[in-house]
Amino acid sequence: MKAGIWVKRMVILDLLLAGLLFLVQSERAASVRQTGAWGSTGRETEEKAEAVAPEKDTKQSEDAGKRIALTFDDGPHPRYTVKLLDGLKERGVKATFFVTGANVSKYPEIVERMYKEGHLIGNHTFHHIQLTAANGEQFREEIVSTNEAIREITGEDTEYIRPPYGSWNKKYEEELNMFPVLWSIDPRDWCLDDKDCIVRNTVSRVKEGDIILMHDQYPSSVAAALEIVDLLQKEGYEFVTVEEILLD
Ligand code: NI
Repeated sequence: MKAGIWVKRMVILDLLLAGLLFLVQSERAASVRQTGAWGSTGRETEEKAEAVAPEKDTKQSEDAGKRIALTFDDGPHPRYTVKLLDGLKERGVKATFFVTGANVSKYPEIVERMYKEGHLIGNHTFHHIQLTAANGEQFREEIVSTNEAIREITGEDTEYIRPPYGSWNKKYEEELNMFPVLWSIDPRDWCLDDKDCIVRNTVSRVKEGDIILMHDQYPSSVAAALEIVDLLQKEGYEFVTVEEILLD
């Protein structure tokens, strides 16, 4: 009798064990079906898929945010600005030009081309004067006359000014509806005629949202600007007008 019970218990235990094994195997099979592959290869595939997807998304959103602005002061110049506009057009790049009223009057056709090709045109006073404690009224007139010179060509009001030497008084913002635009990178192109040095000064420091100060008055600046575009476009940077950076 005792032996009989023992045998029955063994049979019941065996059945239970077989049932458990069956359950474990079914679950394993189901999980493998979900990953679409067997064993550890399945897990690796799944992990890889998880690792790759977010990385790609991050890269895309990083690239979308990597916008920088090239700005050129003191022009237009009859030779170098034209060369620069050709190069920017080839590369599909929009830039910002802070022009002086005096040069706008001399080279209106270049300003018209800037405008037609989608560049932003800003004010850099008429005679490139620095605001001081004594010349407020003259400074104001220089802004107004330069705005008028630009409007005659583009038909639009200019809202952006780069005050020469960075001297500015906030009162003009409301009075003249002008917004001052300074810069975050100055590669000192005005005192360097070494293209490679200007490129290095810029590319080594650049980050998204930067506003780069240059002058379309020198052949070295134009050559450097185009090389900077070529190098940074490869790194996923997009060149936009300062307006697009400031409105972000
Ligand atoms: Ni200047």
